[in-house]
Amino acid sequence: MTDVTTPAARPANPRFSSGPCAKIPGFSLDLLSDAPLGRSHRAAIGKAKLKEAIDLSREILGVPAGYRLGIVPASDTGAVEMALWGLLGPRPVEMLAWESFGEGWVTDVVKQLKLDATVRKAPYGEIVDFATVDFDRDVVFTWNGTTSGVRVPNGDAIPADRKGLTICDATSAAFAMDLPWDKLDVVTFSWQKVLGGEGGHGVLVLSPRAVERLETHTPAWPMPKIFRLTKSGRLIEGIFQGETINTPSMLCVEDYLVALKWARSIGGLTGLIARAEANAKAVRDFIAGKDWIADLAVDPATASTTSVCLRFTDARIADGAAFAKAVAKRLERQGVALDAGAYRDAPPGLRIWCGSTVETADVAALMPWIEWAFHAEIAAQTVAA
Ligand SMILES: Cc1ncc(COP(=O)(O)O)c(C=O)c1O
Repeated sequence: MTDVTTPAARPANPRFSSGPCAKIPGFSLDLLSDAPLGRSHRAAIGKAKLKEAIDLSREILGVPAGYRLGIVPASDTGAVEMALWGLLGPRPVEMLAWESFGEGWVTDVVKQLKLDATVRKAPYGEIVDFATVDFDRDVVFTWNGTTSGVRVPNGDAIPADRKGLTICDATSAAFAMDLPWDKLDVVTFSWQKVLGGEGGHGVLVLSPRAVERLETHTPAWPMPKIFRLTKSGRLIEGIFQGETINTPSMLCVEDYLVALKWARSIGGLTGLIARAEANAKAVRDFIAGKDWIADLAVDPATASTTSVCLRFTDARIADGAAFAKAVAKRLERQGVALDAGAYRDAPPGLRIWCGSTVETADVAALMPWIEWAFHAEIAAQTVAA
């Protein structure tokens, strides 16, 4: 048996959850003391906060002029559903899926909206070959597979002169990866991912072509109030100025503003991307050359820099799911990694969130603990057998 000593150092922050993700470094509730609590979100102060959140999001993400960015109900799911229900129907649809959330959007479109979509799936760890996709159809896909650790490497395969709309769930990509805005007609995300914000609020970004679709197409199905982006055939512009459809949490808005200002202070998008990349590199440097652990991502070109998914490859492991769960439990019990088990529908393993709010020193400190927990579990399994 390999003798692995208990690592001396621990991550200062053991929060490696893939959502809600670690708060910004140095976070404390005191930072939210400027929240206009007990005031209407439609009062001048509330509206100003919401508008500031929209403006700062646009600035940091580099959203082009002419694109709309609005805060919508029900987190990323709400934003995706608004897009699917409001836009799809007039053109043929292609649904691309390579993990659990993408598969959820397939279910919505095929089983709920009952559209006759072409469905293209890739197994966990891979993405669909974009060369096979017809972008004259409306195409729905996830930029980063949070549960499978793979991402779209760039937008090169998406034609600039496509006739269809590209609808992209970018919730675990936005703020940590470059998004090619000219290739994306709808982008959605939530605050609880890369910026370590709170759940409940979604962000919906629309290209001018998406707006045109909304204004010229009436869905064949009923549209609940929280999905409606148009009135009398015109876009409700107020939504994209901070006049939310229903009541947001001003505490969450304040928290998001604090995170956005932190993001700006570390160099904006460039700084955010660099932090995620350094974190993911710390994991991949650690697993390189080891024969007992591997990246779930098959091709390094599509390997995620936020949700890094790992699988155990040691031949001695009898029950992969039980083993991975037991390792994650050991890490949690030691207080070195919380919520680091693979997603329930994904192949067994670990998932280390490497988004921009995570400190690289914490990722580096966690790595020897993974080795320690692996060997401890192998030993426990051997004793039990
Ligand atoms: C790719 C993807 N889409 C959608 C969601 C759902 O996000 P929310 O719970 O913010 O609606 C998640 C959450 O992890 C996700 O990873």
